[in-house]
Amino acid sequence: MRHLFRKVVYAAAAIFAVFAVSCDYSVIPSGTDTAVHPKGFHPLFPQYGPSDGQIATGVIPDKPPEQPIQFTHYRHVTMLGMDCQYCHTEARRSIHAGVPPVEVCMGCHKHVKTDKPEIKKLASYWDKREPIPWKKVHDLPDYVYFSHERHVRAGVDCTECHGLIPLEGKWPDGDASKAEVMKRATPLQMGWCLQCHATHPSIDNNYGDDADLRRAELKDCFTCHK
Ligand code: HEC
Ligand code: HEC
Ligand code: HEC
Ligand code: HEC
Ligand code: HEC
Repeated sequence: MRHLFRKVVYAAAAIFAVFAVSCDYSVIPSGTDTAVHPKGFHPLFPQYGPSDGQIATGVIPDKPPEQPIQFTHYRHVTMLGMDCQYCHTEARRSIHAGVPPVEVCMGCHKHVKTDKPEIKKLASYWDKREPIPWKKVHDLPDYVYFSHERHVRAGVDCTECHGLIPLEGKWPDGDASKAEVMKRATPLQMGWCLQCHATHPSIDNNYGDDADLRRAELKDCFTCHK
């Protein structure tokens, strides 16, 4: 699969170079129906049909997926002031940001809000020593190389790619049962990556005179398709 893909990339690279100039990557089809394979984004790169209408690249879901526990970032990040990397500990040193193990939650919830139904669910995973089956919200195809470490260290903020997480799940009228859980804010498409790579100010800051060279490198197909 990898070898085949590499060939496809070689072939596509030549044609792509011609089309790239004339295409506007920033266009995301508006009003895209998540149930329908979206069309018309790019003539050479048809989009992925969504597998369950939630996580497919290119489609910004209008509804968050159903999660096993109504976890909300708003409570923990905005109200309690927790740092993203308290829970997503790997973001700075790995390609994955990672989702926290139950242990991290139980550090507090052994004692906090133990009478609430959502926390009882949490505790039952802990008692059974089972991981919480969180549904993935962001998922790139396997042939794309993406690393959190590189972006986080360069000074790209989590919210530039993930939207306003600190407000995600703000409880309307203080009613926990109406909280909206995480949904994806960005299309995760190739054009989205390329557009930021062409313009992000951290590249000027970090590379100075070599910024143009670095930007050229970041356009190279093999930066993201190894
Ligand atoms: C208290 C722990 C905790 C903190 C603090 C926290 N998160 Fe999360 N995060 C989670 C859990 C649990 C999930 C999985 C459930 C979900 O998707 O809502 C998650 C999911 C996510 C996801 C989606 C993962 C996927 O499946 O694609 C992103 C993106 C994310 N968090 C970003 C952030 C950012 C940015 C911050 C800081 C502003 C942050 N988180 C702070 C616990 C936390
Ligand atoms: C640093 C301590 C801390 C950690 C770690 C933490 N929480 Fe919380 N959590 C709280 C506090 C405090 C509240 C109550 C906030 C409020 O309502 O004022 C809360 C509230 C909640 C609620 C809402 C409970 C209700 O009122 O219905 C859920 C669900 C929840 N947390 C899940 C999680 C999960 C899942 C994790 C692990 C990913 C986690 N928490 C990690 C401190 C923590
Ligand atoms: C340059 C854009 C970008 C930045 C900056 C970024 N992310 Fe991500 N994040 C992504 C992409 C793309 C994915 C999907 C990765 C995949 O499927 O391989 C993702 C996936 C995730 C996930 C799902 C689990 C995983 O590791 O794949 C979590 C959680 C997450 N990000 C949290 C964070 C946090 C916390 C920060 C800041 C410390 C952050 N992200 C910064 C783009 C970004
Ligand atoms: C919000 C801006 C932004 C977005 C969106 C973004 N990137 Fe980046 N990316 C950067 C910056 C800035 C760098 C340069 C980091 C450096 O060289 O210090 C970078 C570097 C990279 C690198 C080089 C890593 C290395 O080891 O040399 C890869 C690979 C990469 N990005 C992949 C992606 C992919 C794939 C996506 C889309 C899913 C994406 N990026 C989206 C800002 C972004
Ligand atoms: C900055 C990262 C990045 C660079 C550079 C990049 N790609 Fe991609 N590419 C992606 C991502 C992310 C996807 C998956 C999302 C999508 O389909 O848009 C993708 C998807 C693809 C696909 C599959 C599209 C489909 O729908 O089947 C092809 C083919 C491809 N890229 C070819 C290329 C070629 C050729 C180049 C060099 C001109 C290139 N890519 C450069 C990130 C990148």
